[in-house]
Amino acid sequence: MQVVVCKDAEEGAGIVTEEILGALESKPDLVLGLATGSTPIGVYQQLSLAHCEGGVDFSAVRTFNLDEYCDLAADHPQSYRSFMRKHLFKDINIPEENIHFPPSEGPGLREKCLRHEDEIRQAGGINIQLLGIGSNGHIGFNEPTSSLASRTRIKTLTEKTLRDNSRFYEDPSEQPQVASTLGIATILDARRILLQAYGEKKAEAVKASVEGPISSYWPGSALQMHADVTFILDEASAARLEMIEYFRKSRADRVRLQEENTI
Ligand code: PGA
Repeated sequence: MQVVVCKDAEEGAGIVTEEILGALESKPDLVLGLATGSTPIGVYQQLSLAHCEGGVDFSAVRTFNLDEYCDLAADHPQSYRSFMRKHLFKDINIPEENIHFPPSEGPGLREKCLRHEDEIRQAGGINIQLLGIGSNGHIGFNEPTSSLASRTRIKTLTEKTLRDNSRFYEDPSEQPQVASTLGIATILDARRILLQAYGEKKAEAVKASVEGPISSYWPGSALQMHADVTFILDEASAARLEMIEYFRKSRADRVRLQEENTI
């Protein structure tokens, strides 16, 4: 596990964007795992800019989003399909058929979710998975106590998640309670994982995920089992890490060794 402590979210988004664009150069049909929420918006802005101003081609890219609400119409402004269209897809040249979301409408949702796992496999697996983290440690909508072996399925959202997201709903009765999400094992299958977390509200979840014991109670801690994951943080979200000085030193060493072409 690597931990990078940035000056701010913009610097973090720059690091993530640079890695995606580098990967895209060597693999134009990159398979990206995408997240929603406020955290990845900076990356989506920078990717949109790379297309509009830099001519970066997304025509062969395939995407798999992490989650989608079950009780919202696909064209509802708060659906994650709408979110992705607004913040990224409308601004890049990705074909509609290359965009995937976990199934969120019945009937037969359970079977559809299992078939979704096959679709990811058939695409060759996810090359780079972007993640945010909930203040309760969820990744995707894998809420605390989600099985660490879980696959794409339906989850009921916790009170904490509902509270965190209630700002998006004027009418509380409109807020969806259930979502489909890639599972924790699905996420861990990705070859590379980049988790961004910014702000003091995420400090407890970051501490538990990076330095705590592996536990389904803090789903982010499952990432300790992944061989190639980087947490991209700001000072506020990193504030509770006991090993923060080690992480800074490790990052400086890595940058130096890369510049010397040693690694
Ligand atoms: P946020 O949500 O990016 O809006 O903070 C992250 C999450 O809940 O996974």
